[in-house]
Amino acid sequence: MVTLRSVRLEDLPALGTLDRNIFGDLAYPYFVLRQIFDVHQEEILVADDHGVLLGYSLAVPSTGSPSDLAHYLALGVRAEDRGRGVGRSLAEETLSGLRSRGVRSVRLAVDAANTVAVKLYLSLGFTPAGYEPQYYGEGQPRIVLDLNLLAPRSANHRVSELARE
Ligand SMILES: CC(C)(COP(=O)(O)OP(=O)(O)OC[C@H]1O[C@@H](n2cnc3c(N)ncnc32)[C@H](O)[C@@H]1OP(=O)(O)O)[C@@H](O)C(=O)NCCC(=O)NCCS
Repeated sequence: MVTLRSVRLEDLPALGTLDRNIFGDLAYPYFVLRQIFDVHQEEILVADDHGVLLGYSLAVPSTGSPSDLAHYLALGVRAEDRGRGVGRSLAEETLSGLRSRGVRSVRLAVDAANTVAVKLYLSLGFTPAGYEPQYYGEGQPRIVLDLNLLAPRSANHRVSELARE
């Protein structure tokens, strides 16, 4: 059974391997992962299948303005476990956690060519909000998507079959 839970210190080596598996050149260097862990442990959700990490999700409320905005920084599932509902479950759990903390809107950046991710985010209620040709530097354009967490839930919403620890 796949369990969604907050990351633990002992997960970090496996989380680093998972992150490289998913994001390749754009994976966090290990020291950055450790720093993110130190600051945002409760905001890193992992999908754990009997001790094996299948995916993770990271979304962080902004400390700037507006104060009720969160940034969805990362969502990924390892290649061999995609298409099983893990990504959607991680995203739904993350958004539900943000909503219960009083966050009103969520922003993320995604490669327009990443049709699986874009379709997933649109089905969760995100809408296009902009385009940045050098979002992650030269040759790394991203579209910006926003989600209003106060809007009625999408008709596409599916109850997750995965458990939350
Ligand atoms: C985007 C990503 C997280 C989705 O994870 P996942 O576990 O495969 O997602 P799910 O199994 O929950 O599927 C989500 C939706 O995408 C669809 N989907 C998944 N893989 C697909 C594929 N290869 N082709 C077409 N549709 C696909 C599913 O049918 C599902 O739609 P549905 O719920 O309406 O049926 C995963 O593909 C991934 O890690 N990609 C690399 C990292 C990335 O791009 N992250 C997001 C941008 S930051």
